[in-house]
Amino acid sequence: MEKASLVVLVSGSGSNLQAIIDAIKNQQLDAEIKAVISNREDAGGLQRAASAGIKTFFIDHSQYPSREAFDRAMMQIIDPLKPDLVILAGFMRILSSAFIEHYQHRLLNIHPSLLPKYKGLNTHQQAIDNHDPVHGASVHYVTDELDSGPLVIQAEVPVMTDDTAQSLAARVLHEEHKIYPLAIKLHCEGRLAFDGNRLLLDKQPLQKALQWQHGKLIQ
Ligand code: GAR
Repeated sequence: MEKASLVVLVSGSGSNLQAIIDAIKNQQLDAEIKAVISNREDAGGLQRAASAGIKTFFIDHSQYPSREAFDRAMMQIIDPLKPDLVILAGFMRILSSAFIEHYQHRLLNIHPSLLPKYKGLNTHQQAIDNHDPVHGASVHYVTDELDSGPLVIQAEVPVMTDDTAQSLAARVLHEEHKIYPLAIKLHCEGRLAFDGNRLLLDKQPLQKALQWQHGKLIQ
């Protein structure tokens, strides 16, 4: 079977991108990252990609008259690469409906909360302020509604009484680095699919997100 091809979009430090690069290097994931695209020139993710010998693209969203025009510019880079999967890894721009529709069924996102809780920004502080006993991360296919779309894998972490948003974010990120490569692997192996309505795992409807607990995926 041909290696699955990936395109990764980043805006920040790119630690999730690094986890994907490492999973490929360690042969846990049989895939090739064709390109990393960022809307920020200073994104650490671009550095990480360049160090791994991956082609990088910086597209400055402020140079485009509309969200749609910026997204079209990204599509012009992505489409010739024919990716099996487009991966949002800390990409902090809202995408247009046209972009989402174009890559539907092959667009994954990771979000630092136990969705549907805490869509949007500042998720860690919200979990602390609400005295949540647990917080976590979610991988989901992207649909037109922000931070929604069918959940693939979730991982929980405890919230400690002395947590700051920073310490909690670090604990969540650690889990993100485990579950994102796993979700990508399931998709690339053809075991996981989103048919537009339902998630299918090994051709069976997946009723709720897989849980990552104690180093294992639990259905
Ligand atoms: C991660 O925590 C990711 O879940 C979050 O941005 C961080 C990126 O970290 N994404 C979102 O908030 C998207 N709504 P990284 O650049 O080190 O991978």
